[in-house]
This record gives sequence, structure tokens and C-alpha cells, in this order.
Amino acid sequence: MKIAILTGAGMSVESGLATFRGGGGLWDSYPVEQVATPQGFAANPALVLEFYNKRRRELLTTEPNKGHELIAALEKEHEVVVITQNVDNLHERAGSTNVIHLHGELMKVCSSRNPDDLSCVELLPSPDTDTAIGDKAADGSQLRPYIVWFGEAVPLMDDAILALRDADMFIIIGTSLNVYPAAGLLNYVPSGIPVFLVDPNEVNVRGVRKIVTIRKGASEGMQEIVDSYL
Ligand code: APR
Repeated sequence: MKIAILTGAGMSVESGLATFRGGGGLWDSYPVEQVATPQGFAANPALVLEFYNKRRRELLTTEPNKGHELIAALEKEHEVVVITQNVDNLHERAGSTNVIHLHGELMKVCSSRNPDDLSCVELLPSPDTDTAIGDKAADGSQLRPYIVWFGEAVPLMDDAILALRDADMFIIIGTSLNVYPAAGLLNYVPSGIPVFLVDPNEVNVRGVRKIVTIRKGASEGMQEIVDSYL
């Protein structure tokens, strides 16, 4: 069976990473427009680099949780594509081999002149993952985080749509579905396939007619899907 899984920040909560929205979310402590827009980077690049340096240091001390592991284990019997809005690498570290990062990857940096130039994308050598003003990409421009900021195009959206259109089952885990175009993936769910939503809180899944809602955290919810539906 071909299984497509869309994940968001809630996927990594049990690993200790914060979500973006809701009480204590990251966007409560850091104004989005300062740290996650091209305008914010132009205004104060040092602040933005330091924000992502902090996120990377945090990720280095974080491990995948049981939910990530259950998803990775699905590959033993199924063709799995993970479409994630997360910039962490916890799916890969749990063993998932087919991961589409819609919003970029925290451990990578790229050219600030042309963020879409893949020849300038670099993986930072851990544990030395800090970047500073003056660090240059291969094209000579200032290095910036390989993150899709608000207002920027999402280059991997087409790949995600193609993967979802081909799926026999769709699982959504830990996303408030507030951010487009990612949330628009719901428009491409093939009709008639089983759709599951795992989230401890209510999420507005507009348009999807038949959906099995599992009001649990990522690990427990994934376990229920494995035990009862696969
Ligand atoms: N297990 C599963 N889901 C959880 C858990 C948990 N243990 N804890 C919280 N959640 C759910 C919340 O109920 C919420 O619905 O995770 C969701 C997190 O929502 P957001 O913080 O809005 O995160 P996300 O949907 O991934 O945000 C999308 O917004 O700012 C951006 O680029 C950033 O990729 C991000 C995008």
C-alpha cells in the first residue's frame, strides 16, 4: 500500500520541541516577521542567524520519538512518503528514507542571493552548526538558513501533491493546518481513500468528507493506526 503522511510541529512535541501556535508556541516568544521572513532577514540578519543557531543547538540534543519510529517502521511493508512541514531531521534519524521537507531543513544553509540554487545548499557539519555574518555561500553571498520563510515560494509543493495523489492512505499528524500552501494539500486527497488525523486538539479539516480523528499525541495515535487499521 502507498501511504502518504503529512506531519507538523506536533510530531516532534514528544521529542521536546515546541510547536509554533498555541500557548508557549515559538511564535509567542519570537515575532514571526522578525525571524521568519525575507524582510526580517534583510533588517537584522544577525538576529535571524542567531535564532536558527539556537534551533539547531536544540535539535542536536533531541531524539526522534516513538511516533517517528512507528512511521519509519511502516517502510518494512509499505511504500511510504513523509511530507513534513518540520525543518528538524527527526524523521530521517528514525529511519524514514522518503521525506519531503516543504519548509526546508534546519541543518542546511544556502545562498541568500538565490535560496533556490541547489548547488549552493550545504549541510552544516554537526556539532559545529552555528553560522555568522560573513559566512559565505559558494556564490559569494551571505549564507542564510535553508528555510522557506513566510512570503516565499514552496518549491517542493508539486512533489508533495504528486505523492499524495498516488496514495492509498493519508495520515495527518500534529499540524494546525493554518499555513498555506501546505494546508491546501487537503484538496488533493484522492477520493475514497482512508484519511486519519492524529492530534490531541481539534483541527479544522475543511473539505475532507470522511476522516477518522484520533484525539491523541503522535506516538499513541500512530500506534492506534498500526494496531487497528494496518
Ligand atoms: N502529538 C501530536 N500533535 C500535537 C501534539 C502531540 N503530542 N502536541 C500538540 N500537537 C498539535 C497541536 O494541537 C497543533 O494542532 O500540533 C499542532 C501544531 O500546530 P502548529 O504549531 O501550528 O504547527 P504547524 O501546523 O506544523 O505549523 C505549520 O507554520 O510557522 C510555521 O513554518 C512553520 O512549518 C510551520 C508551519
